[in-house]
Amino acid sequence: MNLTLHVWRQKDAKSPGQFVRYEANDVDPHMSFLEMLDVVNEGLTKKGEDPIAFDHDCREGICGTCGVVINGRPHGGQPRTTTCQLHMRKFRDGDEIVIEPWRAKAFPVVKDLIVERGAFDRIIARGGFVTAPTGSARDANNILVPKENADLAFDAATCIGCGACVAACPNASASLFTAAKVGHLAELPQGQPERWSRVLAMTEQMDAEGFGGCTFHGECEAACPKAISVRFISKMNFDYLRARLMRGRRVPQGSDSAGG
Ligand code: SF4
Ligand code: FES
Repeated sequence: MNLTLHVWRQKDAKSPGQFVRYEANDVDPHMSFLEMLDVVNEGLTKKGEDPIAFDHDCREGICGTCGVVINGRPHGGQPRTTTCQLHMRKFRDGDEIVIEPWRAKAFPVVKDLIVERGAFDRIIARGGFVTAPTGSARDANNILVPKENADLAFDAATCIGCGACVAACPNASASLFTAAKVGHLAELPQGQPERWSRVLAMTEQMDAEGFGGCTFHGECEAACPKAISVRFISKMNFDYLRARLMRGRRVPQGSDSAGG
């Protein structure tokens, strides 16, 4: 395949960026999108030019670092697929492909296609964990978790923190990411003691980072490579409202049961 790429090149967050045209020739259809960029970079390096900077790590769809916008769609728009798992056979010979970084105020460009996603780490640092000592792994079924709650917790926990939800949202909202992180602990018994303080702290940090508000466009769910449902946002909003109403009041014993 022979392709024409229009790649966003930007020296750093303070410098202006622009699209630069590159020809990618003899691309194997079985290459991943990142392998195609590797080949383009090899050519640039041989010519003594600056290679295109892009983020990646696992290349297996599990680490969440490889996000770029391809032809206007985060991760390229193939359902449940990260950029590293997108293959060139999804494109046609002669295609023109536009490649950009995530566009959001809270994700400043580091270089070219790489953005700084520390804002997500800071949201996690405000409560995406349990502080109780949990000891070593317990026997299965030692703590009983209803199947529905276990399934929901697992669904939420599949969030890889890629940021596609932010990139897809017209408001650049991080609600789906935050809701997934709040939601997976809210479904489990171990997450109950800090359930209400967690949702307040993490949403407060989300706002402080400059992400936009959620107005339920649903673009986040469509772009999410793990297909995390917007219903986690509804559940987070419900918990947030309840936590605000309870603020300053002692939570009655037994009101924090999993999935409550
Ligand atoms: S919710 Fe989905 S799109 Fe958003 S960070 Fe998590 S995995 Fe990525
Ligand atoms: S490189 Fe890890 S998810 Fe793509």
